[in-house]
Amino acid sequence: MEIKALGCEPLSLRRVFIKNGHTLDVYREDGGYRSLEKAFGMTQDAIIQEVKDSALRGRGGAGFPTGLKWSFVPRDSPKPKYVVCNADESEPGSFKDRYLMEYDPHALIEGMIIAGYTLGSNTGYIYGRGEYRYLLDIMDVAIGEARRAGILGKNIFGSGFNFDLHTHTGAGAYICGEETALLSSLEGYRGHPRMKPPFPAVEGLYACPTVVNNVETFTSIPQIIDMGGIAWRDLGTEKSGGTKLWSISGHVKKPGVYELPMGYADMEKFIMDDCGGMLRNNKLKAVIPGGSSVYIMNAGQILGKNVTLDYEGLVAAGSMLGTGGMMVMDETVDVVDTTKNLSEFYKHESCGWCTPCREGTDWIVKIFNRISIGEGAPEDAQLLLDIADNIEGKSFCPLGDAAAWPVQSAIQRFPEDFKKWLWRRVPAEGKELTVNA
Ligand SMILES: Cc1cc2nc3c(=O)[nH]c(=O)nc-3n(C[C@H](O)[C@H](O)[C@H](O)COP(=O)(O)O)c2cc1C
Ligand code: SF4
Repeated sequence: MEIKALGCEPLSLRRVFIKNGHTLDVYREDGGYRSLEKAFGMTQDAIIQEVKDSALRGRGGAGFPTGLKWSFVPRDSPKPKYVVCNADESEPGSFKDRYLMEYDPHALIEGMIIAGYTLGSNTGYIYGRGEYRYLLDIMDVAIGEARRAGILGKNIFGSGFNFDLHTHTGAGAYICGEETALLSSLEGYRGHPRMKPPFPAVEGLYACPTVVNNVETFTSIPQIIDMGGIAWRDLGTEKSGGTKLWSISGHVKKPGVYELPMGYADMEKFIMDDCGGMLRNNKLKAVIPGGSSVYIMNAGQILGKNVTLDYEGLVAAGSMLGTGGMMVMDETVDVVDTTKNLSEFYKHESCGWCTPCREGTDWIVKIFNRISIGEGAPEDAQLLLDIADNIEGKSFCPLGDAAAWPVQSAIQRFPEDFKKWLWRRVPAEGKELTVNA
């Protein structure tokens, strides 16, 4: 496992390289909680402006601008306000947040206190899935250290501001990473997503204004306050500010967590040089660049295409940045098998609330099952696309889209793999896999 920064100084990964960087003493020696003191000297509007200037986009997958999200919170509301950290990290292929919590828990605490101060909230929650309980134990130790030092609790640093934090463990359901399902689960209900609007910023936890942000988003906040929003943005690009953590897995020689400036050029260099190239020197076949919920790319969309690693670059190349959970596959991979595996995941994790996703994911898996035993038919590609189309944009929450996209992109971008399976019962020679895109 590699853990390294490329093309920038380690910022988010900084304390991975500092012995005992997770402890309060070492964190403070390294400048920790300096941003909080600075924030207490700023107005709340000024902090929001810095975050807007930084062009920080939420690192949990959707990439929504954080400063804008914070500006939606009605700070004059008489209701309590809440700050919630989404530490579920349930996206297949993503494993970056766990390093932040393990090596830099105080950066998360500092980011959340700054958010609380900015939004007028006195209470925060860190929600993680059951498998991450060991990380929440680390967070609890850090929270205890901060409380004893007067960094959490009443009148923090003599500012008159009170804020406390609590961890909460979910049961390990992918859907509980979706922010409204997370809030339902945090309230003690079954983790079903809620209707939006109202958005959590207006009506979230206990129907009160709530900001939900990802671990990496919160840990970026002290960096932004310390450096200033514009300077932080300029580490990346104008629209995708700062640096980003990438979790790389699959058929590369050096998988791991890499911190790259946004706009890093380019994807081919990153996979083929920085990550050591392909395992066993095989050929690159496919990449899912942003966690399983984005379009799968074929080698032709990457090699020689100068794909920059930022939100815009990956959309232009035909996929999405998502969480930055990049899964690399070589020529030995059967994309039908990969897509079947992903579809089984989405079927299993569909919460069952709405019909297109509940039924559609089940049908998709049934069709993949028959394809995988050689019982598929040439029409099955179009059938899969029709079902995916009836899920995409027609489901209650984005998990439906996430289930449809791998199927759609796999059929369109890897027709040869499907052809191999779908013409098992009839000769394939001279036949094209025709699908209505
Ligand atoms: C099915 C599903 C699972 C999700 N899982 C996570 C997750 O594990 N961690 C996360 O931060 N965001 C996850 N999200 C995105 C959240 O809904 C939300 O956009 C995010 O927590 C907002 O924080 P950010 O703006 O800092 O990215 C998920 C979304 C969906 C639809
Ligand atoms: S899209 Fe799927 S996960 Fe989302 S509400 Fe509907 S059934 Fe549940």
